[in-house]
Parts: sequence; structure tokens; C-alpha cells
Amino acid sequence: MLGGSRLTFVLLSAAVTCAVAQHAPPWTEDCRKSTYPPSGPTYRGPVPWYTINLDLPPYKRWHELMVDKAPALKVIVNSLKNIVNAFVPSGKIVELVDQKLPGLLGNFPGPFEEEMKGIAAVTGIPLGEIISYNIFYEFFTICTSIITEDKGGHLLHGRNMDFGIFLGWNINNNTWVITEQLKPLTVNLDFRRNNRTVFKVASFAGYVGVLTGFKPGLFSLTLNERFSSNGGYVGILEWIWGKKDAKWIGFIIRSVLENSTSYEEAKNILTKTKILAPAYFILGGNMSGEGCVITRDRKQSLDVYELDPKQGRWYVVQTNYDRWKNAFFLDDRRTPAKACLNKTTQENISLATMYDVLSTKPVLNKLTVFTTLIDVTKGQFETYLRDCPDPCIGW
Ligand SMILES: *[C@@H]1O[C@H](CO)[C@@H](O)[C@H](O)[C@H]1NC(C)=O
Ligand SMILES: *[C@@H]1O[C@H](CO)[C@@H](O)[C@H](O)[C@H]1NC(C)=O
Ligand SMILES: *[C@@H]1O[C@H](CO)[C@@H](O)[C@H](O)[C@H]1NC(C)=O
Ligand SMILES: *[C@@H]1O[C@H](CO)[C@@H](O)[C@H](O)[C@H]1NC(C)=O
Ligand SMILES: *[C@@H]1O[C@H](CO)[C@@H](O)[C@H](O)[C@H]1NC(C)=O
Ligand SMILES: *[C@@H]1O[C@H](CO)[C@@H](O)[C@H](O)[C@H]1NC(C)=O
Repeated sequence: MLGGSRLTFVLLSAAVTCAVAQHAPPWTEDCRKSTYPPSGPTYRGPVPWYTINLDLPPYKRWHELMVDKAPALKVIVNSLKNIVNAFVPSGKIVELVDQKLPGLLGNFPGPFEEEMKGIAAVTGIPLGEIISYNIFYEFFTICTSIITEDKGGHLLHGRNMDFGIFLGWNINNNTWVITEQLKPLTVNLDFRRNNRTVFKVASFAGYVGVLTGFKPGLFSLTLNERFSSNGGYVGILEWIWGKKDAKWIGFIIRSVLENSTSYEEAKNILTKTKILAPAYFILGGNMSGEGCVITRDRKQSLDVYELDPKQGRWYVVQTNYDRWKNAFFLDDRRTPAKACLNKTTQENISLATMYDVLSTKPVLNKLTVFTTLIDVTKGQFETYLRDCPDPCIGW
């Protein structure tokens, strides 16, 4: 448990560590080679598969998974409560979340409301806490996503899921509390209808949205957080005040994976729909040239940056900064990722070399929960739990 003073200490020491530049050794390293198939100290282990049956009523879909994962979910929900209580010790905020949040937010569209209610019932965790857990991925997702095209026009999509910054630090083994607690919750999900796969995702049990997924044969899609002054909290306030025309980002991705049937349709929806928080959508298709990063503010698309293999643009890389701006100098994962892709060359890009790039510090860092590799046309979807033992930077 995190006491208030310990938490303050942790935040302070994180701020001090912040002053250490990420681009100097030992925080960075030469591009890794031959890390695939995954093994060794940066590989924590495999990720289990579960089926989510879309033919079941939403309330019942998550039952089987959540029976297995309820204990791990309780651990993380308790950590979040402890963090909140450390800031506002009266316990009033948690009380408010439990009693008032569901009413305050009102109904969520589509299947999401019933799905979250079903998860609350099965785990015995209050609905307000399940909703909070589903909301917080809209805010703290720091990631690297990459789409590449090889010489034969074949696309690959890779991503590191980095999550848990500033939410507490384990001083015994130098890890982020929430990042570590998410590892046992990490699952691959096969969403099926009529006993057939509709889409597959890598996710955290208890979360009904999607941040990483693909539709075999058609397209792949990942979300990276975009920080902006007109950020997601404005969107949430608007939602609470009753202006519910914008979509939650994890939910729009789930809807696109569930119901869109082509790269173009997905791109169109992700470019045009009003969303609650700014975001980067990284979307890949099934043929040459179909890969883009959509930079979004809440109302509109600011930029769609596409593969252009004829002009030599055989990859797109997205972290958490607009591509036309410099990365924050303490957090530049973009330059190392591009440098390693350049070094790999288009001739040699493969799932294995993509994993090498995603295994090179600081693209791999202490926030990295998992790495996912996707080959849309071959129908491959692989997720690996990661560790980043010392020396390794916190983000
Ligand atoms: C670090 O310690 C935490 C808390 O004891 C534990 O959950 C986690 O698995 C450890 N992580 C590593 C990489 O050793
Ligand atoms: C679903 O498909 C699998 C094979 O793909 C088959 O073994 C199983 O019996 C099917 N289940 C139902 C309910 O149709
Ligand atoms: C997908 O479309 C179906 C049919 O319109 C709808 O019932 C379902 O809620 C949609 N799924 C999502 C996640 O929005
Ligand atoms: C690629 O996607 C399109 C839809 O955008 C689909 O019509 C086509 O069949 C797909 N190609 C392959 C090889 O699956
Ligand atoms: C990667 O290669 C491209 C094209 O040659 C070049 O513009 C870019 O500066 C290189 N980036 C890095 C980080 O090496
Ligand atoms: C590409 O891979 C081949 C075979 O593994 C290797 O001989 C060659 O050196 C690699 N090229 C680069 C630029 O790494």
C-alpha cells in the first residue's frame, strides 16, 4: 500500500529521475538483434487467449474471463484507490466514484454499459470503479506504434503498450506499480460471432474498449495517447454536462473493429467522428500503401500521414508527439525507433526485426507492459509480456 508521504516521495524521485536525459547510455543502446523468438530478461512470458462470444448478451460476454481475472483486477483497482486516497485522504473521492459516478456519466452507448455491469456483477467490484478503470486508459497510454511495408508490398504492424506513468513506483525492484499489476491482467481476446473470429485484440481484463487489435485479412488498428491542452478531461466534462455526441476512444476502436469491413471505411470513421479525447490512430490495411497515422483533436483530423513506398516512405512510426513537432526532449522514443528501422532496411523487415526494434531501449522501457506484432494478411497476432531490467529508464 502507498501511504501519502511515500507517494509524495515517489513522485519527487520520479521528477528527479526525469532530469536524466533518455537519449544517453545506459538508457539507450545499439539497435537490438536476434531477440525473436522472445527469450531472456526482457521477455516476461506469453499472454493467454480467451474467447469473447458476441452472440451472448453483453451482460454475459465477459463472465468466463472475469471469473479468472477478478483477483488480479481487485489488486489494481485497490492500488488506484490507494493512490486517490493518498491525495485526498478522507476517502470521499472513492465514495463519490462508487455512489455517484455511474449516475453522473449516464448510459454508455452500444453494448458497453451492459458489458461493464456484467463485469461489476461477476467480480463484485462496484460499477463506478469498473467505469473508472475503463476510462483511465483514455488518459495514460504512452506507446510506440509502427507500420512497415516490405519490398514485396507486405504490411506489418507492431506496438509497445506503455502504461502506468506516475501511478506509483516499487522501490524494492525499480518498477512502476500499475505497469507490473497490468501484466497478469494482459490477455489476447478472440471476439467471435457465429463461432467465427470477427476481430482479435490485446487488452487488459476488465476493459471493454480496445487499444490494440486487428481484423484478420482486412486491417489493424492501435491507439496512442495524444497530449493536448484541449485534452480529454474537457471531453469528459462535456459528457457529464450532457453533451454526449463524442465517442470514447477505446469504444470507437472497438466499434470499428467489430463493424467496419475495410481499411477505407475504418479510416473514414476514425478521421471524421467526434471523439472525447485527442488521439493518434495507427491504421494498417491489407495491401501496399495502406498504412497511416491519423492525428486527431477532439473534433477533427489534423493530419493523415500515409505510407508512400514509391517515394521510399516504407514505414510510419508514432509515439506520443505530433510528427511535425519535436518529441519532448526527455521522452524521445521516435528517433531511436526510426534509427533502428533505417538500420534494419526495407529488405529485412519482418516480425522478427520489428520485435528487435520494439526491444531496443528506450522504445522498450519500464512502462512497457506488452509488445504486439500483427500480420493482417497472414492472420498472425502475437503478444508478449515485457520486462525492462536495470539499467532501464522509467519511460
Ligand atoms: C516488482 O515487485 C512487484 C511488487 O512486489 C511485483 O509485483 C513485480 O512482479 C516485480 N517486478 C519485477 C520485474 O520483478
Ligand atoms: C465452433 O467451431 C469449432 C471449429 O472451428 C467446432 O469444433 C465447434 O464445434 C464449433 N462450435 C459450435 C457451437 O458451433
Ligand atoms: C456493431 O453493430 C451492431 C449492429 O448494428 C450493434 O448492435 C453493435 O452494438 C455494434 N458494436 C459496437 C461495439 O458498437
Ligand atoms: C483487402 O481488403 C478489402 C477491403 O478493403 C477486401 O475487399 C479484400 O478482399 C481484402 N484482400 C484480401 C487479400 O483479403
Ligand atoms: C531515417 O532515414 C530517413 C530516410 O533516409 C531519414 O530522413 C531520417 O533522418 C532517418 N532517421 C534516423 C533517425 O536515422
Ligand atoms: C539482411 O539480412 C541478411 C540475411 O539475414 C543479412 O545478410 C544482411 O546483412 C541484412 N542486411 C542488413 C542491412 O542488415
